[in-house]
Amino acid sequence: MITTSGLTKVYRSRGREVTALDGVDLHVREGEVYGVIGQSGAGKSSLIRCVNLLERPTSGTVTVAGQDLTALAGRGPRAGRELRRARSRIGMVFQHFNLLSSRTVQDNVELPLEILGTSGKERSRKALELLDLVGLADKAKAYPAQLSGGQKQRVGIARALAGDPKVLLSDEATSALDPETTRSILKLLRDLNQQLGLTVLLITHEMDVVKSICDSAALMDKGRIVESGTVSELLATPGSELAAALFPVGGEATGDDRTVLDVTFHGESATQPVISQLARTYNIDISILGAAIDTVGGLQVGRMRIELPGRYEDNVVPIGYLREQGLQIDVVGAEPVLVKEGAK
Ligand SMILES: Nc1ncnc2c1ncn2[C@@H]1O[C@H](COP(=O)(O)OP(=O)(O)O)[C@@H](O)[C@H]1O
Ligand SMILES: [Mg+2]
Repeated sequence: MITTSGLTKVYRSRGREVTALDGVDLHVREGEVYGVIGQSGAGKSSLIRCVNLLERPTSGTVTVAGQDLTALAGRGPRAGRELRRARSRIGMVFQHFNLLSSRTVQDNVELPLEILGTSGKERSRKALELLDLVGLADKAKAYPAQLSGGQKQRVGIARALAGDPKVLLSDEATSALDPETTRSILKLLRDLNQQLGLTVLLITHEMDVVKSICDSAALMDKGRIVESGTVSELLATPGSELAAALFPVGGEATGDDRTVLDVTFHGESATQPVISQLARTYNIDISILGAAIDTVGGLQVGRMRIELPGRYEDNVVPIGYLREQGLQIDVVGAEPVLVKEGAK
């Protein structure tokens, strides 16, 4: 649904060059919620602004719903109009809502329809329908100043949906909201994704956002995507930073003569019985040092850090047993050669 290839953005100002995007290949499938996470300055906003051509990429291409937007750009005034049309079918939600304070809620939602030249009656019908969809049917005549942050963001979302987009882009849409409001806005985005078949690309610096609604995620660092995939693919990737951040488990070895393992499971494989079977089969005491278990996209996923008595060499057989049960095992600390090779 959204594909970028070799996307590069270099800002030039006062003789200084900043490479905000450095060859980004992103692929967002139709109907999924895709989260891009990264620290401040990683290039997330630049990426999203290049995806809808608010910002012209320095090089590379952007294809949305089969249309190469970068080809539309810069081909004279006619192509300019085509690009504006294409852009109107990509909804965008902003961190600070970007509502016009002098306009009512309804008039804010109607704004993009005015620009598209929709008739007054149709505009009003559409705006009220969208306000109903986001749960604000009774606020049509209110002004932004009379709304809470969460309500303002609902207006922002209704406005983003005015052009019947297939794609919704969200730049830190919940970063200005409290945790409870954040949850309700994320739920709204998830509902819209499911009801309307909307593809959502959202960027965030909060891991919880990714955890609660994303099907897939990418980690950005210094203008590059350093990891990406579906949440279960990431969890199945040994040494994945994103997986570790999604399901952080702590816990230090209690002594030198110990083997610490991170056990990752998702879907079918349940850890609990496997761990007790392991203890019985090999007659060893297993300590659980930490665990993080959650539901992602309806699947139970999690990590557990466990400790076995003895060094790695003493535990080759039990580790093999765990792997045979379909669990992903990362040996923490002293990394044996085998694990390193597997990580490549
Ligand atoms: N309009 C701009 N002009 C110059 N530099 C910019 C501009 N926008 C962003 N940058 C720089 O590009 C880099 C990436 O910024 P941004 O895409 O906003 O990252 P993020 O959203 O991940 O915080 C930063 O170093 C930032 O200072
Ligand atoms: Mg940003």
